[in-house]
Amino acid sequence: MKKDIYRERLDAPLNENVVNFISSIKDDLWIAEEDIIGTEAHNIMLYEQKILTKNEIKEILSSLENIRKNLVNGKLKINNDFEDIHPFIEKCVIDEIGIDIGGKLHTGRSRNDQVSVDIRLKIRNELNELSEKLIGFIEVLLNLSQKTIKAYVPLYTHFQRGQLGVFAHYINNYISQIIRSLERIEEVYNRINKSPLGACAIGGTSINIERTRTAELLGFDGIIENSIDAISSRDYIYEVLMVNSLISLQFSRIAEDLLIWSTKEFQFIDLDEQYCSVSSVMPHKKNPDTLELIRSKTAKIISDHFSASMIIKAIPSGYFKDFQELKPLLKNSFDTLFSIIEIFSGIFKTIKINEVNMIKTIDESYILALEIAESLVHLFNIPFRLSHKIVGNLVKESSNPKDIMDKEKIESLIKKIYKQKIDLPPNFIQNIQNLEKCLENRISQGSPSISEVKKTIKVLDKQREAFNNKHIKRVEKIKDATLQREAIIKRLIS
Ligand code: ARG
Repeated sequence: MKKDIYRERLDAPLNENVVNFISSIKDDLWIAEEDIIGTEAHNIMLYEQKILTKNEIKEILSSLENIRKNLVNGKLKINNDFEDIHPFIEKCVIDEIGIDIGGKLHTGRSRNDQVSVDIRLKIRNELNELSEKLIGFIEVLLNLSQKTIKAYVPLYTHFQRGQLGVFAHYINNYISQIIRSLERIEEVYNRINKSPLGACAIGGTSINIERTRTAELLGFDGIIENSIDAISSRDYIYEVLMVNSLISLQFSRIAEDLLIWSTKEFQFIDLDEQYCSVSSVMPHKKNPDTLELIRSKTAKIISDHFSASMIIKAIPSGYFKDFQELKPLLKNSFDTLFSIIEIFSGIFKTIKINEVNMIKTIDESYILALEIAESLVHLFNIPFRLSHKIVGNLVKESSNPKDIMDKEKIESLIKKIYKQKIDLPPNFIQNIQNLEKCLENRISQGSPSISEVKKTIKVLDKQREAFNNKHIKRVEKIKDATLQREAIIKRLIS
């Protein structure tokens, strides 16, 4: 028999260059185990449907288990001359048990439904790993947040010192974004966890297969009904890459925050030396290379999503080989994201917050200007537009931030602009300068007041726990299906 088990129709073998060009076998290693598992489930179903005899299923499953074990132990010698992993595994079985039985393994199935089932099985695990890692990252962030509830910091907009806040508020903002990513992962997971197997090439099969059974054996939540949809749609790949891309976008901005805050110009944070590189020539330098690479590597994850969209958008209904190029994009997207989360977790675990410098920056800023303006609204019901003008003039006439903390000056501006003589309470300036009090006054929901920040930490932690429970359930469902399959395989092989 020819090595290429599919090419019976053609006389000439593929030339070497062509094989190299079209083969996905190297990328397929990513889904090799899933391919065997999918084949096992398909064949168990064929046996239950009486399409395979007891002896046939025994031979097929023994061989597949052999190949699977060798693959897991790194002993399987992959032959790169194959077009992809699917004929390679089939050929391994045929070589081991002969064509009479081995030749039945692919009955009622096509590579088109097969590859999609493999990728869905793989993505499912990757998404679970991603949620696990994100949940772990949230724990690290929550820990830091707890420790920085009273670390005062300027909150920036347009890179200008805007309002008073606390460092924990920035961290909680990161956590909220990650929580939304966990929501997205969950939604995407529910759509992905459906089986395309049994759609065959595009139009189903006359073999009496039972699609819901293979779905059940693989721990899917159901099947993709329409056989064209099952082999042709790649929206699941698009949306997974989109989720990763969005996480990357968020992570890149976090990296950017840290990069800026770690500069000598800011000195709000100190990165642990483990996460920094040095200069070959400038002996004084400590470079935040890890953060810079998070910025660029996330760019590549975003590009993976973009590349996938470009590939998918061009393709008419049906299977086309273009799809093959999606696999390495998925692999790169997940692998890179995993490594980034690991580095980020380490960075946030070891980061030092320079509260003294942050306070210094607050002292040197006009950050309390809004506090003065809102106090005038509270105390004397001055229309905000006018109190804004009063404080605006106050700032304009000052040469440094301390100058605006001047009771008489404020009173005279009130008189000039509001046209009323008002005596400010004796402790007016003192209250404004009391940072803790300022934040206490921020009664709006979600503000950085200490009580709001504490409340937020509790809510975020609850959300983390809820996502963790759902994560555990998903993993358990896969585990249950695996145990069920393994028990069947054991019984059929013995
Ligand atoms: N290597 C292919 C892929 O990754 C597998 C499916 C091949 N199907 C086909 N009709 N050529 O997409």
